[in-house]
Amino acid sequence: MSLNDDILKVLYSEEELKAKCAEMGAQITKDYAGKNLLLVTVLKGAVVYFTDLMRAIDLPCTIDFMIVSSYGSGVKTSGVVKIVKDLDTDLTGKDLLIVEDILDTGLTLSYLKDMLAARNPASIRIATLLDKPDRRKADIKADYIGYRVPDEFVVGYGLDYDEKYRNLPYVGVLKPEIYSE
Ligand code: IMP
Ligand code: MG
Repeated sequence: MSLNDDILKVLYSEEELKAKCAEMGAQITKDYAGKNLLLVTVLKGAVVYFTDLMRAIDLPCTIDFMIVSSYGSGVKTSGVVKIVKDLDTDLTGKDLLIVEDILDTGLTLSYLKDMLAARNPASIRIATLLDKPDRRKADIKADYIGYRVPDEFVVGYGLDYDEKYRNLPYVGVLKPEIYSE
């Protein structure tokens, strides 16, 4: 039984994701030259993207992690954002780049951005691997976007369904029968 059997189609292959990270990393390297870059990610979904993206940034930077919960085990957002683990870093004067896996309704990120903006960073931007603009409920945009994806449930490369499929090396669409079972 392979994880691949649950995937309807591959959206972005390992090679495409690698090239995308290189491209986004190069842009961020240009934009943040001479700044005080702090990369922050929200565990767990963005973890694979985060580690690939940070290695594509050729600048001194620091990293930190947060854990929030906005999703249960299902596929719909609850709209409720809870901080499970906060940052350890003082944000004063930092050029904060929040790294996300997917911007969906935007409720999670919108809440986080406002909360972090209140801690006096020098700047605050968002990089997301995937953007689902059709599902947006909050007024928020990412500054760096890997791919715009249709409204389909995707897994792999850190993204899960019910904590499964995070270790798939590509991004794929899950067979609908998996989550309608
Ligand atoms: P929202 O933007 O507040 O709705 O929530 C975004 C979060 O929901 C992401 O960080 C993911 O953890 C999760 N999410 C949204 N869409 C998907 C998907 O297609 N696959 C896996 N997780 C998703
Ligand atoms: Mg996430």
